[in-house]
Amino acid sequence: MPDLLVPLFNLPEIENVKGIWIGRPLAHQSPRILSFIRENFSEGWEAEVRVGFSSIPPTILVAVEQESGKPSGFCCWDCTAKGFLGPIGTLESVRGRGIGRVLVLSCLRSMREAGYGYAIIGDAGPVDFFKSICDARVIEGSTPGIYGNPLS
Ligand SMILES: CC(C)(COP(=O)(O)OP(=O)(O)OC[C@H]1O[C@@H](n2cnc3c(N)ncnc32)[C@H](O)[C@@H]1OP(=O)(O)O)[C@@H](O)C(=O)NCCC(=O)NCCS
Repeated sequence: MPDLLVPLFNLPEIENVKGIWIGRPLAHQSPRILSFIRENFSEGWEAEVRVGFSSIPPTILVAVEQESGKPSGFCCWDCTAKGFLGPIGTLESVRGRGIGRVLVLSCLRSMREAGYGYAIIGDAGPVDFFKSICDARVIEGSTPGIYGNPLS
């Protein structure tokens, strides 16, 4: 899949999702978040998100069901490569409620506040998802991009 380029100077407004808290986890919450990602997504994504916990504050946002305190999604940046957003995931049971949109837009806003002018979404699986929520543009010639090393 290609990488996408997202300008950060004209981001849409963020509308909260009822009953969902979006924010940065604290370092002591990293075991909970990392096991959530390993169990519901993949070991590879767990490894990438672990990088985000090496910054203070972490370059990770999580979506939490306010009533139960349980995580339902995550998104991060500066984990795969500098200036890259992702991975992102929401639990199957909560998809379609706008949580993915808020996570992406909140991460993009944090990247802008950190001084980036553009974000790159690496190896973007659901390209239309990203295009529907921000001004994401396909980067020609970006496959396999940074993912092209031969390690099997
Ligand atoms: C992609 C993903 C994060 C979307 O999460 P979500 O919480 O369902 O997203 P939202 O509810 O905020 O959807 C926002 C918009 O994108 C659309 N959308 C959601 N998933 C989509 C997809 N796979 N392809 C195209 N459009 C999609 C929604 O219909 C919605 O459009 P609308 O505003 O017109 O209704 C989720 O499906 C997921 O975790 N998938 C598996 C992991 C993955 O593929 N991550 C991306 C790796 S780069």
